[in-house]
Amino acid sequence: MIITLDGPAGAGKSSAARALAARLGWCYMDTGAMYRAVALTALERGILLDDSAGIAALAEQIRIEFRDGRVNVDGRDVSADIRTERITAATRPVADAPPVRDAMKRIQRQMAEGLDVVTEGRDQGSVVFPQADLKVFLTATPEERARRRHQEEVSRGQSSTLAAVLESQSRRDDGDCSRPVGALKQADDAVLLETDGLSADEVVQRLVEMVEVCRRLRGLA
Ligand code: C5P
Repeated sequence: MIITLDGPAGAGKSSAARALAARLGWCYMDTGAMYRAVALTALERGILLDDSAGIAALAEQIRIEFRDGRVNVDGRDVSADIRTERITAATRPVADAPPVRDAMKRIQRQMAEGLDVVTEGRDQGSVVFPQADLKVFLTATPEERARRRHQEEVSRGQSSTLAAVLESQSRRDDGDCSRPVGALKQADDAVLLETDGLSADEVVQRLVEMVEVCRRLRGLA
């Protein structure tokens, strides 16, 4: 079975998708991490970020794996390296390029083939897995998403202001929604889950209930 979880930055997709996959004993695919891993490797190999054909070829060459909650590229753990501000910025043009998106779509489909997967990103239900068994669009108001991120940053000891988080989040939302291919969009058949006022555990519980309904409808449980 395939479950897709799409939504804007800061909606809590990653933690919800990871927890859901763990509860179900399924594989978890963080497709944002995949785009980040490609951007990191392109920079390391001196491939220009506007060389979309070169980056698409690179994406096909490297092996990205998720293992024990870590992201590996060709066996090297890049989990921390892909989360820097520099890589967040470099990932934007990489994810905007149609040839790269095309390659990633193929790779993501290959990775999920024959497996039970929870996959998370922006275009998983709308483009990559249009036949997914369950599609969820996870969101929250911009203020709630910014408040959560601000709290996370403060708890990590980073200097953070709510206004700055809101500002950079709004730039990311604009970029995500205006991308010519693979723009953030709720698939027509996706269930909308608004998480304002829900704890992380409550979000996962709602998702588990949706999966149970879905499996019952399909005669799998
Ligand atoms: O979710 P995360 O911040 O890790 O995503 C990193 C980058 O990859 C963002 O620019 C996001 O818009 C992009 N992305 C994408 N398609 C996906 C997942 C992420 O374009 N399926």
